Amino acid sequence: MTDTEKMPRPREGVLDIAAYVPGKSAGTGAGKVHKLSSNESPLGPSPAALQAYAACAQNLALYPDGGSSALREALAECYGINPANIVCGAGSDELLQLLASGYLQAGDEAIYTEHGFLVYPIVIRANGATPVVVPERDLTADVDAILAAVTPRTRMVFLANPNNPTGTYVSFDQIKRLQAGLPPDCLLVLDAAYAEYVRRNDYEAGLELVSSFRNVVMTRTFSKAYGLAGLRLGWAYCPANVADVLNRIRGPFNVGMPAIAAGAAAVRDQAHLAKAVEHNDVWLPKVTMAVEALGLKVTPSVGNFILVHFPPDGCRTAAQADAFLASNNVIVRRMDGYGLPGALRVSIGDADGCTAFLTALRTFMAD
Ligand SMILES: Cc1ncc(COP(=O)(O)O)c(C=O)c1O
Repeated sequence: MTDTEKMPRPREGVLDIAAYVPGKSAGTGAGKVHKLSSNESPLGPSPAALQAYAACAQNLALYPDGGSSALREALAECYGINPANIVCGAGSDELLQLLASGYLQAGDEAIYTEHGFLVYPIVIRANGATPVVVPERDLTADVDAILAAVTPRTRMVFLANPNNPTGTYVSFDQIKRLQAGLPPDCLLVLDAAYAEYVRRNDYEAGLELVSSFRNVVMTRTFSKAYGLAGLRLGWAYCPANVADVLNRIRGPFNVGMPAIAAGAAAVRDQAHLAKAVEHNDVWLPKVTMAVEALGLKVTPSVGNFILVHFPPDGCRTAAQADAFLASNNVIVRRMDGYGLPGALRVSIGDADGCTAFLTALRTFMAD
């Protein structure tokens, strides 16, 4: 036996996975740090959610409700859907993993787009399947390119809509065209992590398609507009056949009691959610225009973040800007892993965070 044969071997493809690199938290300067690297909500959670969370402290010796019923009921009421079609998870990341392990195996292909969310290739490879990366057009998913990449082996298509990190979106008409062009045994995953922020009449997160077809599922998160990233909470709206699969393979208590309670209270406090979205409505265009005024290109975003491009032949690079911002305690996200080494992704923070970012960027560009 060789040395490598003497230890347990992971499933084929696992060692090809590049582990996900989360946004940094610490700055290099002294004083307050503005973390604009993970698209978290600057408003934080609803006070009602915090209260519900704290009340759980009395009951932590008990297992949570394995079916997350209170949360599914709250979501069902809010969206006018059947709670039986909702599956909750420890962040939408868990739901993406469950979907991949429920529907993919060795020999299968799963599609995602050129600058799509980097969890997709991880969950595809983790299940022994082959990721197929499809080119985008103007940093936006291209439905024709996705359909052209479908083969008899294609089992899933992962599409973040809006996409992270580009902030671009695909209209409902185009999504309908995508669904109509896919084979009925190919599962379309509409990852709508940023849906709450979108203010476009031609956008639909996926509710209607999930209600109509057995091969569409929509995933959502409490980590962004609801301000509950630390709790790890997400949900999927599924046709009955998909909910059945997820419920068979998920952990029996995959969502903690405080997460269920806080999530249900957060959903019932739509006024707080509206405040988070209104904050974004004000600062997204403000920050975008201020960055453009410095001569930098910004991809038009419908999410709570922007992608800022530094000219490839310029003397100021994205890497230098990132280091300069960090030295001023403004933490943003490098995009090398997304194939965009000339860009930085910047979350819309609170007023102080946005101002600190713009002030530091202005100084960097003037130097
Ligand atoms: C497009 C997209 N999908 C899913 C997620 C995962 O969110 P969570 O696991 O926190 O629910 C994120 C987080 O950054 C995201 O950007």
